[in-house]
Amino acid sequence: MVKGVIFDLDGVLVSTDALHCQAWVETSRRWGIPFTPKDNDLLRGVSRMESVEIICRVGNHPLSDEEKVRFAEEKNRRYVELLESLTPADILPEVPETLEELRLRGIAMAVGSSSRNTQNILRRIGLSDTFDAVADGSMIVRSKPDPEVFLLAASLLGLEPAECLVVEDAQSGILAAKAGGFAAAAVGPARDCPQADVKLCRLSELLRIV
Ligand code: G6P
Ligand code: MG
Repeated sequence: MVKGVIFDLDGVLVSTDALHCQAWVETSRRWGIPFTPKDNDLLRGVSRMESVEIICRVGNHPLSDEEKVRFAEEKNRRYVELLESLTPADILPEVPETLEELRLRGIAMAVGSSSRNTQNILRRIGLSDTFDAVADGSMIVRSKPDPEVFLLAASLLGLEPAECLVVEDAQSGILAAKAGGFAAAAVGPARDCPQADVKLCRLSELLRIV
């Protein structure tokens, strides 16, 4: 029985996945590294520095350690600038009513995100007080596909992994959930991931399985 739902943030609750992509594309262009939106799914759920590694590999463009740090900082500066225009209107479809119904059913709810910008984003979209727990990139050392962030979210909720369902748009997130002993529901691009336990076409379909 599901007692808690752990939501990924970018691409599940809010459309910031597109802003991550825009900031990576713009920064890569400035650095002369080939990177296009079609490669963006590789970066979903992956930490900032691991994203740099992937971009260098895919673009076949090696950087020194010091350059990688500067590249990541530039991308984050642009991303944070883009976040300034974020409002509750950027919350993804069916999120408010689904969260509301889960709350009424007494289901515990958490965020489990690799992003160090999680608190800023939740504040801008007006969801800071909605969740019983928030585990984010500033609280972990290993990002998805490692289960650390979800294990932390479950423990903050006081629940076992087997009692929680993770909702993810990233293949890395589905793998992280499964590695941690969670059930995993896929939305968006994660629906291509064979390890997902359930594939949701719309977020409200969650209410049929919880
Ligand atoms: C999320 C996104 C990734 C992003 C990561 C780190 O998991 O899906 O695309 O790279 O967070 O985000 P940050 O805001 O800390 O750079
Ligand atoms: Mg995501």
